[in-house]
Amino acid sequence: IDPANRINREKLDLLIIDGKVADIDKNISVNDADIINASGLVIVPGLIDMHVHLREPGQEHKETIKTGTRSALKGGFTSIMAMANTTPVIDSVQVLRDVLARINDQAVVNVFQACSVTVRMSGEMLVDVDDLVVNGAVALSDDGKPVMNSQIMRNALIACKKHNIPLISHCEWIDKEYEGWIINKGEVSEKLGIIGIPNSAEERMVKRDIKLADETDSHIHIAHVSTAGSVELIRQAKKRGVKVTAEAMPHHFTLTDSAVEKYGANAKMNPPLRSKADVSAVIEGLKDGTIDVIATDHAPHAEYEKAKGLKDAPFGIVGLETCLSLVITELVNKGQLSLYEAIEKMTINPAKILNIKKGTLSVGADADITIIDLDKEWTVDPSRFESKGRNTPFIDWKLRGLPAITIVKGKEYRFSLSYD
Ligand code: DOR
Ligand code: ZN
Repeated sequence: IDPANRINREKLDLLIIDGKVADIDKNISVNDADIINASGLVIVPGLIDMHVHLREPGQEHKETIKTGTRSALKGGFTSIMAMANTTPVIDSVQVLRDVLARINDQAVVNVFQACSVTVRMSGEMLVDVDDLVVNGAVALSDDGKPVMNSQIMRNALIACKKHNIPLISHCEWIDKEYEGWIINKGEVSEKLGIIGIPNSAEERMVKRDIKLADETDSHIHIAHVSTAGSVELIRQAKKRGVKVTAEAMPHHFTLTDSAVEKYGANAKMNPPLRSKADVSAVIEGLKDGTIDVIATDHAPHAEYEKAKGLKDAPFGIVGLETCLSLVITELVNKGQLSLYEAIEKMTINPAKILNIKKGTLSVGADADITIIDLDKEWTVDPSRFESKGRNTPFIDWKLRGLPAITIVKGKEYRFSLSYD
């Protein structure tokens, strides 16, 4: 399956030479090739996760570039985009160069780097966009925090447009009204007696950012869509021709806020798990193309941090090693998306949004390839994760479908055996 080339379930051979796709055709015959027998498996372009928190530099107790990219590899991702909310924040050429050097040394998948929108992500001063883009930034985002100042957001959009990179909105409206929130505002928050995050907190920001993108004729990408209202705002904006794209995460199309009662802090993330109606709307958004991308928001935290209890634990869950299986189990096998549509949202769509030459099996492309075993059944056991993070609500879930082999620039990795 290669959605970029409209290939859907054709039985083809694929030839790799020197880390590139050299040919893709029926019955390729060459001498002296190493052969991977992938019969019964599905070959797709290496998966791309455009929303990952790697934590290095500064929070290596949660994750490092090495463990985070090994986690990506095990999950079938050959390219990821790392967010900028590290310590220090990736807001200057100096920090960016240091991080890119570390990536060059330690990463086992392709890592693209986002830089922050504002200096120290404090929302007050726009970064030097020109310098950061020249030095390798592929997107800007204060992900983890909203940019509350609309003038700064507008200037950021204009600067991103100049360089043809997306501005990624962490769509959350934080002011006095909403301070101290923990989980979704609804029956569960009321029952537990804790402050809930209303859908309007997200939707107000989605609305503002769509408006700014419209006014400046620039590209806004809405991160982690979680509410029915956001899906509808994005749907209508797309119809009007606004350059808006959007992503959804497996937890937001799989779980409702009732999971908080069962999984505690491992079901605490931002934006939070919402209602049944919101989950259905996110799935509808994926189905009708309103939501372009499936990404993880892989947000590793240490066990002692998540053990602080629902109120004090940090927001976020790991996602790289369960994403593909959740997509197959919850969307494809339940008839919500075809495998082709799902793969499109994890390959060529994020590649187009980030303007990166990835996400396709075209001849000449880097041989980044994921080979999927759709029938493989496994039980989620975080102690076997490559990630340092064990913070997942999907512990003991029985899922179907796993990457059997992941190939990065022609180099072959096999992880699935560790589940046997
Ligand atoms: O749950 C989240 N965790 N949401 C974010 O926006 C940030 C992330 C993190 O960095 O831990
Ligand atoms: Zn994030």
